[in-house]
Amino acid sequence: MSEAPHVSVLLKEVVAALEPASGKRIVDATFGAGGYSKAFLAAGAEVIGFDRDPTAAAYAAPLIATGRFRLVQDRFSAMAEHVEPGVDGVAMDLGVSSMQLDEAERGFSFMRDGPLDMRMERAGPSAADLVNTEDADELARIFWVYGEERKSRRIAAALIRRREETPFTRTLDLADTVERALGGRRGAKIHPGTRVFQALRIAVNAELAELEAGLDAAERLLAEGGRLAVVTFHSLEDRIVKAFFTERSGRAAGGSRHLPPAAAGPKPTFQLLFNGAEAADEAEAAANPRARSAKLRAGVRTDAPAWRDAA
Ligand SMILES: C[S@@+](CC[C@H](N)C(=O)[O-])C[C@H]1O[C@@H](n2cnc3c(N)ncnc32)[C@H](O)[C@@H]1O
Repeated sequence: MSEAPHVSVLLKEVVAALEPASGKRIVDATFGAGGYSKAFLAAGAEVIGFDRDPTAAAYAAPLIATGRFRLVQDRFSAMAEHVEPGVDGVAMDLGVSSMQLDEAERGFSFMRDGPLDMRMERAGPSAADLVNTEDADELARIFWVYGEERKSRRIAAALIRRREETPFTRTLDLADTVERALGGRRGAKIHPGTRVFQALRIAVNAELAELEAGLDAAERLLAEGGRLAVVTFHSLEDRIVKAFFTERSGRAAGGSRHLPPAAAGPKPTFQLLFNGAEAADEAEAAANPRARSAKLRAGVRTDAPAWRDAA
């Protein structure tokens, strides 16, 4: 476990956005293999890492040895319960790590046979529990909303028929059943199971609710002038992050960025660090396929009170 298999995405862009330095306190909300944390520590910052996956702790030892790092095994939505407010930076690098994806036993991949698990925390209901117990409407909703799968009803019906004979326990079994429900691959660019697996992973880990709560927590924790950098990997995540920054920077629809925000509304809590999203450069995209869908959005905290301050 000494060699970290996860290659950090948009690392230099995230470092440039957060400007880690000696005397700064930075939260790495998605520790993974610690690639971001290492870079923040190398720049002299103090770092608090979070990961809901207990196996991430295996990568923490060399970082703890610096005396400027600690790892909290919890969800980033609970950040404010573990960290004193007034931090200088929060980094979020969403989704799963290569370790999680590549380890068949974790059940995240439709290309490796393993138990149908997908729980980042290794606790709570698994993907098999959802697939074997939710009704057709709920399964179709999950595939439609979290996978943007247009054939969601057809797939849900096929899964229900199949599970009445034998419940699902393995990833490849589910992937094959989905493929058959869709009538095979028919030259599709992506595996027919891609959207269903993404949807189940998001549902099992309540990823979108986590993201919204994590953004709110970062807003509460950041000091004035502190920076928030968020890396997303698909449109559902990016939509939430984009809406957050648009709203919190006072650019929400109906308003104008050339006018002051409506007097009655809350004051902007962020200033955008740059317009839109940054993507991986050509060299990174060529070297790391995971980087091709990555988008970075970032903002600087103003002195305005957090919009959803701790009740
Ligand atoms: C893409 S990886 C991060 C990689 C890391 N930036 C690096 O360079 O090694 C995402 C990590 O975030 C963790 N994670 C995802 N959602 C989380 C949440 N809501 N709370 C805490 N950790 C989360 C996952 O377990 C995974 O280890």
